[in-house]
Amino acid sequence: MAAAKIDGKAIAEGLQSRIGAAVSELWRKHGIQPGLAVIQVGEDPASEVYVRSKVRSTIEVGMASFQHKLPATTSEVDLLSLIAKLNADPAVHGILVQLPLPSHLKASSVIRAISPEKDVDGFHVSNVGLLSTGQKAIVPCTPLGCLILLRETLESLVGLEAVVVGHSNIVGKPMAQLLLAENCTVTVAHKETRYLPEVCRRADVLVTAVGRPALIQGDWIKPGATVIDVGINRITSGGKRRLVGDVDFEGASKVARAITPVPGGVGPMTIACLLANTVSACCDNVGLARPDGVSF
Ligand code: GUN
Repeated sequence: MAAAKIDGKAIAEGLQSRIGAAVSELWRKHGIQPGLAVIQVGEDPASEVYVRSKVRSTIEVGMASFQHKLPATTSEVDLLSLIAKLNADPAVHGILVQLPLPSHLKASSVIRAISPEKDVDGFHVSNVGLLSTGQKAIVPCTPLGCLILLRETLESLVGLEAVVVGHSNIVGKPMAQLLLAENCTVTVAHKETRYLPEVCRRADVLVTAVGRPALIQGDWIKPGATVIDVGINRITSGGKRRLVGDVDFEGASKVARAITPVPGGVGPMTIACLLANTVSACCDNVGLARPDGVSF
């Protein structure tokens, strides 16, 4: 039987509509409007697309959006001074610096300048440390989105063999921490892993975030596995440009129990989770309980 398609678009729409309701209630009952500041440095084409979507969705759910588009030549001093201003601004509950940054700027120093309470990307070392020690943290949006999809698909994750392919700070490492917190047995693999097909074949849950089209073949999938494909790769086939993931979708669909498509799988969840993190950061900031169905 063909694998079920995990409809990330529909699940993200459900989450986004709960966020919209929570934002309205915060305004109606407390006169508070969550606000998200997005900083973009330079004109990386993919970042342009992502930032536009983030700003549009922020406005759609009724939150305040503060967009700062800076030239590629911006100095570290100027960028850090903007972040300090946003850290001190009570109308701003979340701050996101879109990555990658131009090469003269060091992402780790820039992220460290963001107040951890406003770090809605969950990239600050404080949030990374909290997550890895099982404490309440702001969790990076893409892995959080993957976890929500897994919880929607599987009754329980406890005791499952999980393999994460990719060890980035943005996806692979936090994904592994989240799966560990669910009591999965976790292996983190990457491009240099020897015997990668064998490692993948162990997985009841396979999460791939490598950025290589069709790296993962159908015969690398354990029958009945759940596959979450984070890869977003632009390819040209038959003269047409299209998006594909890291997994050979056709081949994997014949073996897996459930799989995310690309596009329409993990992608829409990332933005919904960013909005959810901003509502949670706002509630924490003003001492209100995080709304049900929006915080994780
Ligand atoms: N670049 C690619 N993904 C992300 C993300 O989740 N957050 C930020 N800030 N930059 C990114």
